[in-house]
Amino acid sequence: QAAQKGGYRHFMLKEIFEQPRVISDGLTGRMNDDKSMVRLAELDDLPVPKRLHIVACGTSYHSGLWGRLLLEHWARVPVQVEIASEFRYRDTLLLDKDDMVLVISQSGETADTLAALRIAKQNGVTVLGLCNVVGSSIAREASAVLYTQAGPEISVASTKAMCSQMLMLTLMALYWGTRKGCLSVEESRNNLQILENLPALLDGSLPAMHERAKEISRKYAQVNNFFYLGRGHCYPLALEGALKLKELSYIHAEGYAAGEMKHGPIALIDPSFPTFALALDDALLPKVKSNMVEVQARQGQVIALTNKGVELDAEDRWDIPALPGPLSAFLALPALQLFSYETADYLGKDVDQPRNLAKSVTVE
Ligand code: G6P
Repeated sequence: QAAQKGGYRHFMLKEIFEQPRVISDGLTGRMNDDKSMVRLAELDDLPVPKRLHIVACGTSYHSGLWGRLLLEHWARVPVQVEIASEFRYRDTLLLDKDDMVLVISQSGETADTLAALRIAKQNGVTVLGLCNVVGSSIAREASAVLYTQAGPEISVASTKAMCSQMLMLTLMALYWGTRKGCLSVEESRNNLQILENLPALLDGSLPAMHERAKEISRKYAQVNNFFYLGRGHCYPLALEGALKLKELSYIHAEGYAAGEMKHGPIALIDPSFPTFALALDDALLPKVKSNMVEVQARQGQVIALTNKGVELDAEDRWDIPALPGPLSAFLALPALQLFSYETADYLGKDVDQPRNLAKSVTVE
């Protein structure tokens, strides 16, 4: 096992550090010769959906929430994102023959997601699978499949799989956007250029990120509660950050849309209830900053994951490199993962196999 961990203390840490490689592998063969447009041969024979229903569980569901914003923005495809265990018991009134259902599953074996796929197929809707495990049930039963090529993920808590799902969702949004003509080739090229440079940027940033995660986690490891706040594309990241902290360290954590805090959760804030704010340098930053002030006005401590040059007031500031718009998520995600990893490891928890959790939930 030590050899399989490649010198890392845990599989989870190894898998976090594999993310630059996951991105470069995921991009291999996915661009045309002049690197201006995405190639997704798997989708060439399928019409661009009028509407997309993304169905998934756990971390894969968070990828779907994040991908929705890119698919709506670049490809102008209306997207609904649903938790599979809810979707499967709802009336399927919204499913139309011109719609597409996208099921996202690392394992391709999650029972609720597989059931959702079958319901969609019974309704005559095209189902696209986004899976990591080749030949898995979902990959076999879907009308078409895209593989994330993240390689085997051993740690129960998903890390690199989310990165690979986000990458494929980005490529889908660029692909459908240029195919429909609503995204210019120039814009597509610019974003592909950012993605191509991403592995090197991330690889160079991970060691410092790991150090900062260590420092901050030591300070907060003894708290019982945590908020994760974000807006726009950082809202799904806030959900994922909170999920990772719960899964690994057993600290109660809630991910919240920052603007929704005032409708209840803010009542919980006190000096012992810190907030992890996703305060990246994007259009919604001023709004997030005002939410941080509201937390601090109630004596809540704030960790701000942000970018150099951003002016803000936080008890603990954590700068990561900036990228335009939603693609900055590829740098924020590993920071959240490392923070949870370090907190759990410091508390002596079983990082790779947290209590009560399974890698793949094949029963309902
Ligand atoms: C389990 C795992 C999670 C995963 C979820 C969905 O709960 O512990 O890490 O996100 O299942 O799994 P899937 O394989 O469908 O992506």
